[in-house]
Amino acid sequence: MVALDGPSGTGKTTVARRLAATLGAGYLDTGAMYRLVTLAVLRAGIDPADTAAVATLARNVELSIGTDPERPYARLAGQDVAEAIRTEPVNVAVSPVSAVPEVREVLVAGQRRIIEHVLGTVGGIVVDGRDIGTVVAPDAPLKVFLTASPEVRAARRNAQDTAAGRESTAAEALASVDRRDRLDSSRAASPMRPAEDAVLFDTSELTVEQVIVALSELASRRG
Ligand code: C5P
Repeated sequence: MVALDGPSGTGKTTVARRLAATLGAGYLDTGAMYRLVTLAVLRAGIDPADTAAVATLARNVELSIGTDPERPYARLAGQDVAEAIRTEPVNVAVSPVSAVPEVREVLVAGQRRIIEHVLGTVGGIVVDGRDIGTVVAPDAPLKVFLTASPEVRAARRNAQDTAAGRESTAAEALASVDRRDRLDSSRAASPMRPAEDAVLFDTSELTVEQVIVALSELASRRG
């Protein structure tokens, strides 16, 4: 198992998915799970700041997530919402929703069940998140914390937005990435931080392919 944590714009999700495919392992995008709950909150007309209502919804929401790196999916009550969970209203609300302890409790329990199932069937898994090495799977044999300079992260996010047909400037992307990272690192409930035994890996100067080659080597030694 590989625990892959780090802030947005480090290429983490692309790297995690392709690394899983390279290793013949399963793949779990935990960010997508927080995004699914956030979309459900917004669709229910709940204020993300109303923590009691958010907690109740998190306990009852019906979400499902694919673990095949070649065919990831994200569903809310059976409906495909892969695009809807990447829109700006979700980007804005996801950090406050993720900071609610009950939301984390419900999702971490679900993540542990999925990891156990995939390890028992496929035999390996790459898990992408913020707290995988510290909270979800502290016994993971390989923990990696990806970083990249703020400028590089903003440029990557901007390129992703443009590719997906969403308009944003580099400055807006930087502000959005920065804001989310500040909230994610400063929250009381499992803040984003590298595990003590994580390998810190700066991707600023590297292509996705170079990161995957380096991580595959690490995984074949330790994963
Ligand atoms: O990885 P992604 O950018 O899609 O994650 C969206 C948000 O979900 C993060 O900004 C963070 O607030 C939350 N998250 C989290 N813990 C995780 C994964 C994501 O709190 N393990």
